[in-house]
Amino acid sequence: MPQLSHTTRRAVARSREEPNRFARDLFGRLPERYDVLEEVLSFGQNRRWRTAMVDAVVAGHPATVLDVATGTAGVALALADRTNARVVGVDLTEEMLRGGIRRVTARGRDGRISLAAARAEQLPFRDATFDALTFTYLLRYVADPAATLAELARVVRPGGVVSSLEFGVPPPPVWRPAWRLYTRAVLPVAGLLSGGRAWARVGSFLGPSIEEHYRTYPVEKHVAMWTGAGLEDVRVRPMSLGGGLVMSGRRRHG
Ligand SMILES: C[S@@+](CC[C@H](N)C(=O)[O-])C[C@H]1O[C@@H](n2cnc3c(N)ncnc32)[C@H](O)[C@@H]1O
Repeated sequence: MPQLSHTTRRAVARSREEPNRFARDLFGRLPERYDVLEEVLSFGQNRRWRTAMVDAVVAGHPATVLDVATGTAGVALALADRTNARVVGVDLTEEMLRGGIRRVTARGRDGRISLAAARAEQLPFRDATFDALTFTYLLRYVADPAATLAELARVVRPGGVVSSLEFGVPPPPVWRPAWRLYTRAVLPVAGLLSGGRAWARVGSFLGPSIEEHYRTYPVEKHVAMWTGAGLEDVRVRPMSLGGGLVMSGRRRHG
């Protein structure tokens, strides 16, 4: 197994020390080919995971949905395709949002989807504004995941659904070493070949960042953070041998 380079170790440390700035630096360079490359880097699984996350929202027939960390609006578009809701997408990185606006306009969805810059840690909405909320690949980029979850839950009405997608770490003994090999040896090269240096950087960072995140916040801790944020009926669905993790819950009444 190749050792982590100094650059990768430093990137993982920075993502924890100054997460907002790190995320802006990282994602500010990616919007060009983001939608193709996220499929490459997830081994073609991102689409399935996203569908499972959106399924949890569709069933509740929401009139309004907030998609946090919307990036180039892939989830917001899926929500608009599969519900009649008005969708608001927010993200920290303006370059990603600009890519999102182009896609939403090209798909003729600008009447149903609006996109705006905002931080998940401090949402510019009143309590209980939305019927449902989704967030994707977010919690590795915030300093305090429990506080961020509480902020996300705050803007959802009681009984409304919160649904999320994050990368996961497959279990030992067989799949963990295979996943490590893939993330450490294949991803950086796949990133470089398909998207150049910026994507090689993401490819090298992703595996170590995911592992570090679950060392600090194992899945049971995620469930406890969701419950602590005022969410109930919390469900965890590992997908693709644990490489993806879809979670959902409902905002508690009272
Ligand atoms: C991997 S991308 C996911 C984009 C999109 N949801 C998707 O699935 O295609 C993660 C996004 O999270 C955003 N992000 C990171 N930290 C954030 C924060 N604190 N508040 C809002 N967005 C954040 C990044 O700018 C980036 O666009």
